[in-house]
Amino acid sequence: MKSYKIVVIPGDGIGPELVDATLEVLEKVQENAGDFRLSYEFHEAGANYYQKHGVNISPETLEAIRKADAAMKGPVGLPGVRLPDGTEAGVLGGVLRSGFDLYANVRPIKLFPKVAIPLKDRPPERIDYVIVRENTEGLYLSRGRGIITEQAASDTLLMTRKGCERVCRFAFRLAVEKSKGAPEDGRRRVTLVDKSNVLRSFYFFRQIFAEVAKEFPSVDAENLYVDAASAALVMRPEHFQVVVTENMFGDILSDLGGATIGGLGMCPSANMGDQRAYFEPIHGSAPDIAGKNRANPLSQVLAAGMMLNYLGRKKDALLLEKAVRQALEKERFRISSIGQVQGGARQVASALKEELEKN
Ligand code: IPM
Ligand code: MN
Repeated sequence: MKSYKIVVIPGDGIGPELVDATLEVLEKVQENAGDFRLSYEFHEAGANYYQKHGVNISPETLEAIRKADAAMKGPVGLPGVRLPDGTEAGVLGGVLRSGFDLYANVRPIKLFPKVAIPLKDRPPERIDYVIVRENTEGLYLSRGRGIITEQAASDTLLMTRKGCERVCRFAFRLAVEKSKGAPEDGRRRVTLVDKSNVLRSFYFFRQIFAEVAKEFPSVDAENLYVDAASAALVMRPEHFQVVVTENMFGDILSDLGGATIGGLGMCPSANMGDQRAYFEPIHGSAPDIAGKNRANPLSQVLAAGMMLNYLGRKKDALLLEKAVRQALEKERFRISSIGQVQGGARQVASALKEELEKN
């Protein structure tokens, strides 16, 4: 029996309920498959941990992630828990993404059946693209390093050749590997979103993108400015297959994409490096609805699906996604217009387990 060591960080706010629901569903996935086990090591990290210990993650947890096959993380951070510089103390992006050099933040935006969305007349899968957000540099390299005086403040955006090359190459490979091209025309297409009409750093990114594109003649390469891209992702989402972009733009555009498919509760993500990866929802910990049985855990469940895929359990990942699709298709739970689920994570977990039972 193959066994995988997984570090689990339940996180803050709704994190623990999402993770509990996901673990329940994963239990069923393993039971069905019968040939692998996920062995979990639980670690606390985030805003609650910071309040108790003065740091948001311990060296032991970092070491455990280093040794594990993958890590699964719930949302972290609490609005009131801040560092002296005013930024959030609980968020772990800096320490995990940069710390483990996980340079590609893979954020699928995919419309599932029967999910109510503000765009009219889009059948499921008519929205199905992936945002690859550069995860280690860009403007957020300045995280914790900006300069501030009483009169002015500055954060610096940095693009390196290495950083641009590897994330562009990652995006093109993903476009080739995905089972389908863009919903609009079936074309394999990578869109670079930048602001090279204004900033030199983005012009640099664009040139490197064009160089990398030459290595992938079967994929259409195109450019869009970020303002135009924001409009296009709402007005013509079916045009996109893979979107690659800078760190902050990817942060913003992935929430925009989430809004077009039923909310951030539908949005999983994978933080990928060449050696390691961890998996999490794209959203925060929503402390206002924690413990109220209203959170949509599909972001966390689908992130677990991405983890199974990464571990080489492609079939199990597909079965899990199929269970999600069927449960939604049959309206076994309903996602409200503000992205919440009646009955919350527990309700969703039991519906998914029943669907998995049938497959
Ligand atoms: C995300 C989150 C984080 C980010 C926050 C919590 C720092 O919004 O994963 O998109 O900006 O990277
Ligand atoms: Mn974000």
